Amino acid sequence: MVGMNRWDDKYAPARYFYGTEPNVLVREALAGLPTGRALFLAEGEGRNAVHAASLGHEVVAVDSSAEGRRKALALAAERGVTLTYLLGDVGSTAWDDAPYDLAVLCFFHEWPAERARLHARTAAALRPGGRLVVVSFAKEQLGRGTGGPPDLELLQDLDEVRGEFPGVIWERAERLEVVQHEGPGHDGPATVNLLVGTAGQQ
Ligand SMILES: C[S@@+](CC[C@H](N)C(=O)[O-])C[C@H]1O[C@@H](n2cnc3c(N)ncnc32)[C@H](O)[C@@H]1O
Repeated sequence: MVGMNRWDDKYAPARYFYGTEPNVLVREALAGLPTGRALFLAEGEGRNAVHAASLGHEVVAVDSSAEGRRKALALAAERGVTLTYLLGDVGSTAWDDAPYDLAVLCFFHEWPAERARLHARTAAALRPGGRLVVVSFAKEQLGRGTGGPPDLELLQDLDEVRGEFPGVIWERAERLEVVQHEGPGHDGPATVNLLVGTAGQQ
C-alpha cells in the first residue's frame, strides 16, 4: 500500500508484534516514579506508553508508523487511557516544545550519527531531575535471531550510548542477559542494554 513503511507491514495484523504489556525493564524503571509529562520515542504499537498512561503520566508518543499509531490508540482506548501520539520521523517532528519529567527509548535502533543527535535532543528535553530510561539491543545480540536489527552498526554499545546524553547522571548502565517473550517480535534469550538516569541542572 502506498505510504506504508516496513513497520506498518509488521503492525498491520490484529496481533501486537511486541505484545500489549510493557517491556519488563521499562515497567521496573517506571514503578514508583512520580507522575508527570512523559515522552516515548519510536513507541510503535504503544505497549509502554499505554502502561505509563495507566500509571497516571501525561504521555506523548512519537513514531513514523501510521499502523503503530492506530494500534496504540486502540490499546489506549481499550485500557481507558489517553495518549498524544505524534505521527512522524523523530528527527524532524516537534516533540520537544515543553520539558518532560520522563523520557523512554525502548528498542529504537538508529544509525550512529542520527542516534547521537536524537539522544542529545532527548537529554535536552528533560527538565532538571527528569528521568531517562533507555532499553536497547547490545552489539552481542547480532545473529541471535531473537529480536533486534541484523546490522552491527544499529546495535548499541553500552559505553558509547551512555556518553550520548549530556547532563544525565546514570544510576544504572548495564548489559543484561534476559529472556523475552514480547510477541513474535522479541522471543527468547537476548543481550540488552539498560540505562536509567536523571537529568542534572542544565
Ligand atoms: C523495534 S520497534 C520498537 C517499538 C516500541 N518502542 C516497543 O518497544 O514496542 C522500533 C520502532 O521505531 C520506529 N522508528 C524507526 N525509525 C523511526 C524514525 N526515524 N522516526 C520515528 N519512528 C521510527 C518504528 O516505526 C518502530 O515502531
